[in-house]
Amino acid sequence: MIVVFDAYGTLWDVGAIEKACAEVVGPGHARKLLDLWRQKQLEYAFLHTVMDRYTAFEQITANALKYALASLSLEISAAAITQLNRAWWTPKAFTDATPTLQALERHTRVILSNGDPAMLAAGVQASGLDPYLEAVLSVAPSRRFKPHPKAYQCISGRFGEAPNTVAFVSSNGWDIAGATSFGFRTIWVNRAERPPEELGVRPSVVVRNLRDLPTTLAHLFKS
Ligand code: LAC
Repeated sequence: MIVVFDAYGTLWDVGAIEKACAEVVGPGHARKLLDLWRQKQLEYAFLHTVMDRYTAFEQITANALKYALASLSLEISAAAITQLNRAWWTPKAFTDATPTLQALERHTRVILSNGDPAMLAAGVQASGLDPYLEAVLSVAPSRRFKPHPKAYQCISGRFGEAPNTVAFVSSNGWDIAGATSFGFRTIWVNRAERPPEELGVRPSVVVRNLRDLPTTLAHLFKS
């Protein structure tokens, strides 16, 4: 079986970037800055795809930070900006990521992320997940970001599997909607206990964290 994981927010704790924000703008502004930064980063990725103007995720991330800082009237040095953007290259894994990937070692474990190839390569090293993944794929070759179908096609292109034999795991509701719509079997890791996205498609299964994933997958693919 091929088990595909989203990276940021699913295997990697974006919350850890809050620490970098706190070092630069102080703990009082860190959460607000990170929330707006992340929201704009996603929005810009979607908009670039809709406008058919694919731009590297690193650039989108930097542009989103610029917007977030301006919007919150926060002025920081060029060195501090670089420090914040680099935080996306050195993510921390959620504590349940490594044990779950280890438990799934009989399967082909893959990342499919909107991140650029170099960011992802650095990220799997920094987070220590490198030994537990058979492939780390960026959507970059498709020149579309998830949730565009062409981005999910990177998996079919690489492994030649029918979508309904692929398990796709993400904490992001929008990503789960895109992957379900594409035809993958989907497992939404609803870490933040959010309501389901109202996009007309529902995940195959919802879990609270990655710990139950091996059992969940066994049930899901039994039939
Ligand atoms: C990913 C982020 C954007 O694709 O969730 O890894």
